[in-house]
Amino acid sequence: MATKTTPLTEENTGKDTVAKDTLSITDNRTGKTYDLPIENGSIRALDLRQIKQSPDDFGLMTYDPGFANTASVKSAVSAIDGEKGILTYRGYPIEQLAEQASFLEVAYLLIHGELPKQAELDDWDHQITTHTFLHENVKKLMEGFRYDAHPMGVFVSTVAALSTFYPDAKKLDDAECRMHQIQRLIAKTPTIAAFAYRHRIGLPYMYPDNSLSYTGNLLNMMYRTSEPQFEPQPVLEKALDVLFVLHGDHGQNCSTSSMRGVGSSEADPYCAMAAAAAALYGPLHGGANEAVLRMLRQIGSTSNIPGYIKRVKNKEVRLMGFGHRVYKNYDPRAKIVKKIADQVFEVTGRNPLIDIALELERIALEDDYFISHKLYPNVDFYSGIIYEAMGFPVEMFPVLFAIGRTPGWLAQWQEGHLDQDQRIARPRQIYLGSDARDYVAMEKR
Ligand code: SDX
Repeated sequence: MATKTTPLTEENTGKDTVAKDTLSITDNRTGKTYDLPIENGSIRALDLRQIKQSPDDFGLMTYDPGFANTASVKSAVSAIDGEKGILTYRGYPIEQLAEQASFLEVAYLLIHGELPKQAELDDWDHQITTHTFLHENVKKLMEGFRYDAHPMGVFVSTVAALSTFYPDAKKLDDAECRMHQIQRLIAKTPTIAAFAYRHRIGLPYMYPDNSLSYTGNLLNMMYRTSEPQFEPQPVLEKALDVLFVLHGDHGQNCSTSSMRGVGSSEADPYCAMAAAAAALYGPLHGGANEAVLRMLRQIGSTSNIPGYIKRVKNKEVRLMGFGHRVYKNYDPRAKIVKKIADQVFEVTGRNPLIDIALELERIALEDDYFISHKLYPNVDFYSGIIYEAMGFPVEMFPVLFAIGRTPGWLAQWQEGHLDQDQRIARPRQIYLGSDARDYVAMEKR
């Protein structure tokens, strides 16, 4: 017969009834039953520690590789409904923001939690615009990279280096100081991106032109040559701005949880964001847009698709740009990216890779392997095709992702810093190594 323990609810009813919002667990090793409170659809992992076999037992933990079912934070920045394929930023549907808001407006929303009034947006725009320049020594540092350095490696390193230029960034409890760093980082990421690109192609770095829009200025710093004034192509400028909106934030993805993790040790936001960008670089995450383009080029024609799908099902390769930890339906961002493609192609000409991508999607979505694994196109599947059509080299794709994600990283970092629940991130482990043993002298090995 299981013996009852005192329910873990705040108010102990005293009666032998168990509060509704609890989980009753019986430890069959001891016959004891525990009632754990359920809050926000979860139980607190620490409540499991009381489940022991003996008083000196450590107690139960959860084992969750990749954190597939573990909430490490409470957040209000963005919400994803993976089953329905819904994404909202601060409650606003991504479709409406992509259609009606500029990237800087969305960046304001992510950071401040509310849409800006016109005066607030004008001031925000001014603050960002006046921080686009990099210290000349940062430029010198970037010039030290190998001639063909991958721009994402340059981006990660340069963001970290900014930490040495802004020592005041360590005043994390000063709201004004935090906002100053947030504005600096949002403002400078396009400049870092463009300088990394110009370094790689051996052209002189093009300085910001603050008469242009945020996105127009990036295009200016990347593509301007000898013309006195750069005129961004309006369709491409708008398409890129929407792509930045779509990448703004996305819950506790790998790079955001890296940002929060490093931020939890109270490192400054530049170091935290360098860690986030490093995580994003991986081909399973933000580097997927680059990997998709290489995959489509490797497939080469629609006639080769069946053979490639076969290799995917044999687990020899992955279908890059497909699948998601959270979305078990079509990534809503991918739908919007697909629509943008047509607008861009009207200006740039059709990128033939789109035909391979569309046929790959058609075949995959009819195939039992992809249906049973709930694998759908994610944000990275089509974005690279557009970036390539717009003239960006494939190595710049993850850097473009990083520019779009910067306000989300910073909003999440600040939310983590202000969350009284939060402590330094320090997961536990299940140790399966050797038992304690004595050192063996060299001659006896
Ligand atoms: C982003 O988290 C975010 O929100 C990320 C992101 C954001 O905005 O921050 O949305 C941006 O990173 C999008 C994802 C970009 N990555 C890719 O497109 C790379 C290809 N996709 C995957 O490698 C994979 O789908 C992940 C990394 C996205 C998700 O990995 P999970 O959730 O850990 O899934 P898994 O690797 O455990 O796979 C589960 C099963 C496996 O098969 P079984 O062993 O169970 O039979 O699905 C298979 C996998 O083999 N699978 C794939 C696949 N993705 C998963 N099989 C073929 N091709 C794929 N792409």
